[in-house]
Amino acid sequence: MKYDLKLLTVDEKIQLLMGKNTWQTKDIDGKMPSVFLSDGPSGLRRVAIRLDEDGKPIGNYTMPATAMPAASSLSYTWSPELARLDGEVIADECIEKNADVLLAPGVNIKRTPLCGRNFEYFSEDPLVAGKLAKAFIEGVQSRNVGTSLKHFFVNNAENDRSYKSTEVDERTLREIYLPAFERALEAKPWTVMCSYNPINGVWASENNKILRKLLREELGFEGLIVSDWGAVHDMPRAVKAGVDLTMPYRELYLNELREAYARGEVTEAEIDECCERVLRLIELCESKDKEVKMSRNERHGAAKRIADEAIVLLKNDNNTLPLKGGKIYVEGGFAKKPPIGGGGSSLVTCDYSFVPLGELVANNLGDCCELVSANGRYTTTVDSKGARALPNIIAAALRADTVVLAVGNDSLCESESFDRTTMRLDKRQEDAIIALSRAAKKLVVVLYTGTAIDMSAWIDKVSAVVLAGYAGEAVNEAVADVLTGKVCPSGKITETYPLSENDVPVLAVDTTRPYEVYSDGVLVGYRHYDYYDKEVLFPFGHGLSYTSFEYSNLKIDKQGESDYMVSFDVTNTGEVDGKEVCQIYVSDLLSMVIRPVRELRAFEKVMLRSGETKRISISLSYRDFAYYSTAHDSWHVENGEFEILIGASSRDIRLSKRIDIQLPREKQHTLPQ
Ligand code: GLC
Repeated sequence: MKYDLKLLTVDEKIQLLMGKNTWQTKDIDGKMPSVFLSDGPSGLRRVAIRLDEDGKPIGNYTMPATAMPAASSLSYTWSPELARLDGEVIADECIEKNADVLLAPGVNIKRTPLCGRNFEYFSEDPLVAGKLAKAFIEGVQSRNVGTSLKHFFVNNAENDRSYKSTEVDERTLREIYLPAFERALEAKPWTVMCSYNPINGVWASENNKILRKLLREELGFEGLIVSDWGAVHDMPRAVKAGVDLTMPYRELYLNELREAYARGEVTEAEIDECCERVLRLIELCESKDKEVKMSRNERHGAAKRIADEAIVLLKNDNNTLPLKGGKIYVEGGFAKKPPIGGGGSSLVTCDYSFVPLGELVANNLGDCCELVSANGRYTTTVDSKGARALPNIIAAALRADTVVLAVGNDSLCESESFDRTTMRLDKRQEDAIIALSRAAKKLVVVLYTGTAIDMSAWIDKVSAVVLAGYAGEAVNEAVADVLTGKVCPSGKITETYPLSENDVPVLAVDTTRPYEVYSDGVLVGYRHYDYYDKEVLFPFGHGLSYTSFEYSNLKIDKQGESDYMVSFDVTNTGEVDGKEVCQIYVSDLLSMVIRPVRELRAFEKVMLRSGETKRISISLSYRDFAYYSTAHDSWHVENGEFEILIGASSRDIRLSKRIDIQLPREKQHTLPQ
């Protein structure tokens, strides 16, 4: 090891346990380099100091960077390969702009659709979140840039996030909120970030059970635990719980640690344990082979490749899309300047110059398209502030064959540090949709949001809905390519779109109490709607295509006590080449405990030429059939019948077969009669 603990004084070791400012670790008077930690999940948000002509600091600014898709949009690709590419692109910019650790990915589960930060998280389902986060981490770290898997733990809302305790039972914690971290940890992130909130009454930054017993001892995490910024309230307790690095710098806390050490409340051994991991992180960041591999254009190309597969075709009545030509009227502020993400620490300063969506569509369609515009005195903009001068918009719509309206939420609506108050769009945007639906022959809504939307006011009035999401700086190029058929849409949503927000089990967190009880238990997202057999607008895993897929020849081979190989054919039965996300769900048909009707246990994305058939084979094992038994503090598979279901979404099941699992008696508890 290059940096030896023994060569440091106790006070130098204490100093190393806290940043020296907002973004960097201490360098102990030049004895070692400082590590620069920088956001974020959808691109590098590298804060730098602005200097005047005399070199005097005159404030901070965020360096421009490539705006990659937010995690929500990345998840709609269901592609670990693209998640890895995403990580590689951001790592490239970290190297270019001297950031050593990227504070990403966030894998918190989307428990409530109103969570302000849902755009920055992957899914309501832990498997999707875990698999994509793992690939993202592998991508970033393949370039010798570190990551920070966050926010550990059960931090699923923004309102009162810094003090509201999450009351969660052990089974829910292990079946819903932990698996995404477990799977992402397989990529060995250099750091894990502990969250702001208390868990069952103890701050995450002081929670021995969560940090030591669970994360370190049970899950075997050997990297560095960094606090969220300002999440430490008592540094001696944080050090004793194993928070290795407290961010940002705060002298008061450092002195409290010095005093606690002097009083013998914190031992040198405890300080050394944390300090050792800081030194190891410094060495990891010093690794030599870091080289920039992509040009800005190549990074944009990667952003476009991901965005192409992140766009979701939610509705397409009478094959409204793809657009073939004719008079097309494209309206909405986001058509000119799309939101690239939600607000807060993940928001990238994007220096990309956007081409208006209408122009991109016209370029794709060429002579067979004539763009209609609502010019004149009241030039219109329909954006998150809503429509103005509707009459002008309607007049233009009457002249068009198809109207494309870009609406959604901007970073003032979806953001870190506060939750939304409604799932609906801004009323004036809803009014614009409804008004245009009366004037337009065909109305296509393009939706720029990072989370589920209540569309009940207008969904029946529009011909098609394209979810642009927050797919980064290339979003409108991807939307134009999907609208015109240059790209066959393959994205699928990773959270449920309910019929209306009245159907949502957990909307806003209770702001009257200093705790949030996770009484919904394991029934989160589609697990809730399926269990209560509720109709939904668009189910988890839904996404349309311009082609069609047929599933056949399901075979299930038993390969062990609870090991099965599941294989089936998928055929592209349509006219165009396309990609399909095949989903495998498991259902425990008779259980002594409450269980979701079905749970996603595997998925595979496949590219199929028109007419082509491919055979998919996926293995299932013990954990795929198990629930977490708090009677035995272990995962448990009950003997009995299970159903394995193959679907194009959680509600579009194409194939299924029952199996009967009979584990030896010693592996069973009391069995259902
Ligand atoms: C913020 C966020 C965290 C971010 C950190 C640094 O409060 O919770 O995700 O990485 O502080 O900006």
